[in-house]
Amino acid sequence: MARIPVGVLGATGAVGQHYVTLLDDHPYFKVVLVAASPASAGKSYAEAVAGKWSMDRDIPDSIRGLIVKDASSVADIAKECRLVFSAIEGQKDWIKELEIQYAAAGLGVVSNNSAHRWTDWVPMIIPEINHQHLDIIQEQRKTKGWKKGFIVVKPNCSLQSYLTPVHALLQAGYPIKRIIVTTEQASSGAGYPGVPSLDLIDNVVPFIGGEEEKTELEPHKILGLIRDGMVVSDETIAISANCTRVPVTHGHLAAVNIEFAGKVPELDEIKRVWRAYSSYPQKHRLPFAPEPAIIYREEENRPQPRKDRDAGKGMAVVVGRLRKCPVFHVKFIGLSHNIIRGAAGGAILTAEMLVKMGYAR
Ligand SMILES: NC(=O)c1ccc[n+]([C@@H]2O[C@H](COP(=O)([O-])OP(=O)(O)OC[C@H]3O[C@@H](n4cnc5c(N)ncnc54)[C@H](OP(=O)(O)O)[C@@H]3O)[C@@H](O)[C@H]2O)c1
Repeated sequence: MARIPVGVLGATGAVGQHYVTLLDDHPYFKVVLVAASPASAGKSYAEAVAGKWSMDRDIPDSIRGLIVKDASSVADIAKECRLVFSAIEGQKDWIKELEIQYAAAGLGVVSNNSAHRWTDWVPMIIPEINHQHLDIIQEQRKTKGWKKGFIVVKPNCSLQSYLTPVHALLQAGYPIKRIIVTTEQASSGAGYPGVPSLDLIDNVVPFIGGEEEKTELEPHKILGLIRDGMVVSDETIAISANCTRVPVTHGHLAAVNIEFAGKVPELDEIKRVWRAYSSYPQKHRLPFAPEPAIIYREEENRPQPRKDRDAGKGMAVVVGRLRKCPVFHVKFIGLSHNIIRGAAGGAILTAEMLVKMGYAR
């Protein structure tokens, strides 16, 4: 199959650098274009990221010499690629409008930005949980008159360390009433340069603007149903979140307490459900699908960000310390790589599903 020419918007940032690295030699996609702010536009990619390249490996040779475009140049960019991965940081109304312009110009948009997360005709996807929500693209195209374009978004990175294990339990027939989750989120979650080092080293910051609301509410849309071409949220599970920033480079950790609504599964049954969990990306053996999707670690001191964030090439959710909770029913620790599973890698897996389902060509 000929590779689909794609662009990375926000290619110079923390998520963008992961995109260009992860997409190097991807079997479905070829990065032909990089775009960022007017300050980077006109420079070669290597010049634009000089001094802020934060990956462990060098810039891919195929990307280094590309001239960075201004991400607002929609018409120009639409001539060169068929799909864009959007990782722009900016004012939400502007990004909302910009992503609509891309879709109207015939491009698929897979976005990491939160601008369209609550647009009811835009699916918010965790590939293993709600791939079927992608079918509302048909409705997008019908109502907007878009022939090939679409907009799909990723949820916030914070909730990806616990929602997949929760979904596995729901799917296995164990409804949940309430969840309390406390996250310890890596510094790279704030982008580059992120939280000043003097605020974070030797410290924990007990506030991340907007993060608790996203952690509590976005699961409702992801677990929602499709009705009349729109996503209708499922608010059955009440979620209360505390989100903190910790001096870790990558990997968001979540301490999760669950109260079930009906039958309470035994701990061994929960581990069995997690280990057996498999969904569309695994069944279709998509290139970025982790196998297994959920890894249970029996050691009493795992998961840990440094040791577990790269499991499944950064795409697996690693869980451990499952035990009974004296207040709710059970508690556990979850961990995922915030920029791979939580941003660029998760978006690439979403785009692979879009190809498999025929929405991206
Ligand atoms: N970091 C994470 O773990 C994570 C996880 C999930 C979602 N996200 C989301 O992903 C997006 C990118 O995050 P990040 O962490 O990569 O941020 P970042 O490191 O601050 O990068 C921001 C990117 O946006 C570009 N940009 C800024 N202003 C722009 C403008 N006016 N026009 C066009 N491009 C502009 C920057 O280009 P210049 O270099 O030219 O300024 C840069 O490429 C954000 O919406 C964020 O919320 C991040």
